[in-house]
Amino acid sequence: MSPRLLAASITNRTAPITFREVVAQAARRLWDSDNLQTDFMARSGIQEMVLLSTCNRTEIYALTTHTGEAAVALAKALLPAASNSAEARPAQTPALTFYHNIAAAEHIFQVASGMDSLMIGETEILGQVRQTYEIAQARRTLGPVLHQLFRDAIRVARRTHTETPISSGATSIAYAAVVLATRWAARQTPGTGTSSGLRGRRVLVLGAGEIGRRVALNLRQDAARTIVRDRTESGGDLLVTSRTWAHALHLAEELQGEAIPLADLPQTIATVDVAISALSAAQPVLTKAMLENARGSRASNPLCLIDIAMPRNIDPQVACLPGVDLFNLDDLKEIAAKNLQERQAALAAAGEIVRQEASNFWRWFRARRAVPAIVELRQQAEAIRQAELNEALHRLGHLEPRDQEIIRAMSAGLVNKLLHAPTTMVKEQLAGGFSETGFSGTEFSRLRLLSEEFTEKESSEAYLHLFRALFALPEDDAKMQGQVPS
Ligand SMILES: NC(=O)c1ccc[n+]([C@@H]2O[C@H](COP(=O)([O-])OP(=O)(O)OC[C@H]3O[C@@H](n4cnc5c(N)ncnc54)[C@H](OP(=O)(O)O)[C@@H]3O)[C@@H](O)[C@H]2O)c1
Repeated sequence: MSPRLLAASITNRTAPITFREVVAQAARRLWDSDNLQTDFMARSGIQEMVLLSTCNRTEIYALTTHTGEAAVALAKALLPAASNSAEARPAQTPALTFYHNIAAAEHIFQVASGMDSLMIGETEILGQVRQTYEIAQARRTLGPVLHQLFRDAIRVARRTHTETPISSGATSIAYAAVVLATRWAARQTPGTGTSSGLRGRRVLVLGAGEIGRRVALNLRQDAARTIVRDRTESGGDLLVTSRTWAHALHLAEELQGEAIPLADLPQTIATVDVAISALSAAQPVLTKAMLENARGSRASNPLCLIDIAMPRNIDPQVACLPGVDLFNLDDLKEIAAKNLQERQAALAAAGEIVRQEASNFWRWFRARRAVPAIVELRQQAEAIRQAELNEALHRLGHLEPRDQEIIRAMSAGLVNKLLHAPTTMVKEQLAGGFSETGFSGTEFSRLRLLSEEFTEKESSEAYLHLFRALFALPEDDAKMQGQVPS
């Protein structure tokens, strides 16, 4: 059976964050298991595999000769943990979407281009796809097909970013989080509107990594431009914390904010108006008890907590506390919808590029099916050439080395030229004309004539036709009369 591409996907569109969190952990356990290749992949008929896990999606890409078995194995590995968790279970199942063959290629090209993201056109996902590819390379779960697919995905994403306006302007989760904070602040002071941004607010960013930095930059450059400018001289209302003190310090210095040790979170959280969290922590760093104790007399002061981490950094229970407004990734949907509206035209243009590139990938994928047969044909031809050459050189023992070289080169040239037409034709036919349901190419469709339901005469015609096509002989029967040995 020919190998097929399969992608299993769970995203923010198919499942809520509670479900995605559990699935992401299950996928991570599967991916990190010591005997991934020898156990899971071998049992499920999966030859190549990649795990793409981001804040909004968990996806597994696989090359398999047993699509059904592989799909069941992936569903069993990912879903039970989530289905068993009452809190995590989505209202409507199934949350798992499968993409096959060219649809899987088109999907990863869209994902890498930011076309399937919560914030359409965001470019962070491209970095995550690149990182995923590097990790799979190191893990040795890639073969030639997924290598090509992911290299193409990275290239296609760059194309869509440069050839269409899909990622121009502000479009990222970090940006959306800052917009959400700004809206929250405006609601606290009716009549001010969002134009005053986070002026006068004390904002804490948890995380000095890629996303924490982007959040802080957005605060600095956009919605909170005013506070950062106003507070530079007075000590700063932009606070930054991170697991590693040096990272927090570095980011705070860069943005003229204030670095806070993560250990001081309980005291610090009681003093801020807004906290945006983007830490890669496995467990919540901010719990209900911590917040309750910390807030003490300020217990009813409004506090906006925006958790854009996956898994979440803030215990969802804190939402029960008075004055606390807690938001997570799923709460960014409204801002994302507006972003989508603004990018419809760019999305269509990027979609055109993606379709064209997926079709090219698919031609390449199909043509690969011819490779083993072509290798065998060439090996056989080479063995015959060597035997005939040795025999001829033996009989022409008097030849000078230079003349022997000419004979050698001629024999190689003959073999290459004779094999060129059939190998090219087979590759081209498989690339363009071999459909999932059967033969549909111009030349190969004639092969149907070989079936038993056709007469002997029709079958002989089909063989002859194929023979001519393989060796690029003229189509005209008259020209061939008497030239084909009986
Ligand atoms: N990348 C995206 O596009 C994206 C988008 C939205 C949300 N997110 C989410 O944002 C979070 C951060 O992603 P990122 O891309 O910024 O990752 P990153 O660049 O690797 O940064 C990770 C951050 O988390 C801290 N950290 C790592 N392990 C920790 C632990 N065990 N306990 C506490 N802190 C820890 C790091 O601290 P030090 O470096 O100081 O040690 C750093 O501040 C993740 O939860 C991710 O799911 C990512």
